[in-house]
Amino acid sequence: MTDDKILLIGSGRLAKHFIFYFQHLGVSFSTWSRHDGPDLLKEKIKNANFVGLAVSDASIGELFEQYLKNSNVKAFHFSGAFHHPEILSFHPLMTFSDELYDLEFYKKIHFAVSDSSAFKKIFPLLSNPYFTLSNEDKGLYHAWAVLLGAGTQNHLKSGLQAFAKIGVPESATLVYLEKIFQQFINHKGQSITGPWVRNDQSTIEKNLNALSLPDQNLYKNLMERTSK
Ligand SMILES: NC(=O)c1ccc[n+]([C@@H]2O[C@H](COP(=O)([O-])OP(=O)(O)OC[C@H]3O[C@@H](n4cnc5c(N)ncnc54)[C@H](OP(=O)(O)O)[C@@H]3O)[C@@H](O)[C@H]2O)c1
Repeated sequence: MTDDKILLIGSGRLAKHFIFYFQHLGVSFSTWSRHDGPDLLKEKIKNANFVGLAVSDASIGELFEQYLKNSNVKAFHFSGAFHHPEILSFHPLMTFSDELYDLEFYKKIHFAVSDSSAFKKIFPLLSNPYFTLSNEDKGLYHAWAVLLGAGTQNHLKSGLQAFAKIGVPESATLVYLEKIFQQFINHKGQSITGPWVRNDQSTIEKNLNALSLPDQNLYKNLMERTSK
């Protein structure tokens, strides 16, 4: 028997980050992952009030139906895309890879929540900002979260590789990107420079001729957005 009230299921990337964060905040919780076996899971569920499903989206519903649906616990998950009417949703708008962050950084992470009073009740020790997200807006919300996160990373990686091929030092690209991100944070895209904002057609033509497909289409698409 334990006196833990929160049970966190899963041991993947997100779980590792939140185990670290909760431990440092003094949140009382217990954990379970697949290798612990189903008997221990059933026992831990009996001792919990709240169960966090920090597992792959495809397994959230299945685990809920199998172990939690007919129990007395309230379940929550961390997905920005998955929806189940009986499971609370607390999506941290952040990327979690294998590298942990500083404790102070975790406190800045915003949560998109389906129920703000439940979020406060389950996590009274978390001072993280949160906003309510309706199920209707979740599809668009998560699509843009993916574009901003994985999409931006892939875009930057392509640029870094294209520059490297023609001998631009990585350090030069990184200083350039650092300033671009800082400018974006300061001015939210109102400080864009270059041929698109100068309407310099001859340079735009040269840029387009230098690119091949599909980068040429990407260039055109982004340019059209800039002029709007
Ligand atoms: N990583 C991010 O950047 C991020 C950001 C925001 C939200 N999220 C959300 O967080 C959740 C977890 O994502 P993640 O990135 O941590 O994924 P992950 O690194 O792939 O880890 C998934 C975890 O789920 C476990 N799992 C999968 N199916 C299971 C089952 N049937 N029974 C028991 N355990 C099972 C895996 O166990 P095994 O190790 O045994 O396979 C693993 O521990 C997802 O809902 C995701 O949308 C992730």
